[in-house]
Amino acid sequence: MNRKNQNKRREFLNNVCPTVALAFMGVTMLQACSSGDDDSDITGGGNNDNNNGGGSDTGYTKSGNNITMNLNHSNFAKLNSDGWFNLYQEKVLILKISSSSYRAFEGRCPHQGVSTAWSFNSSNNEFRCGQHDSDFKADCSTPAAQPNTGARSGSLKCFSTSLNGNSLTITKS
Ligand code: FES
Repeated sequence: MNRKNQNKRREFLNNVCPTVALAFMGVTMLQACSSGDDDSDITGGGNNDNNNGGGSDTGYTKSGNNITMNLNHSNFAKLNSDGWFNLYQEKVLILKISSSSYRAFEGRCPHQGVSTAWSFNSSNNEFRCGQHDSDFKADCSTPAAQPNTGARSGSLKCFSTSLNGNSLTITKS
């Protein structure tokens, strides 16, 4: 191999992903070709499948017992699309009844306090904690079970809400 071809080969190996280069040499590896972090964090809450990425714009603020959410914030898009939202960072579940009516519930499971395994079944108006498959009413009228009491039925504790334009305030009490 002449010097010009050797330089081209060296240049190619310098530029190509190491996994691809090893494959050319007959070595296989189970590794993706990526030099960056592809797992972008989603800032704020979500329905059990996201995390608080540490950004400063979470779409909500806290003051004492009050949590005030900007409903237009992209972090809360699932509240519109799914009709409910798990703001698990604050241990609050939010249910959209209509464009002008929301309910908020204690987000810690009455059974053992888990806050990240919720799903909502609109046909029977119940939240299910998937940790041990317990169902809880979301009607604010069935007697509520307090978190961590071992209860596996009843209602989730209801928090008061007030809507002012696109701003939803939840008062935890
Ligand atoms: S912690 Fe929720 S059902 Fe057990």
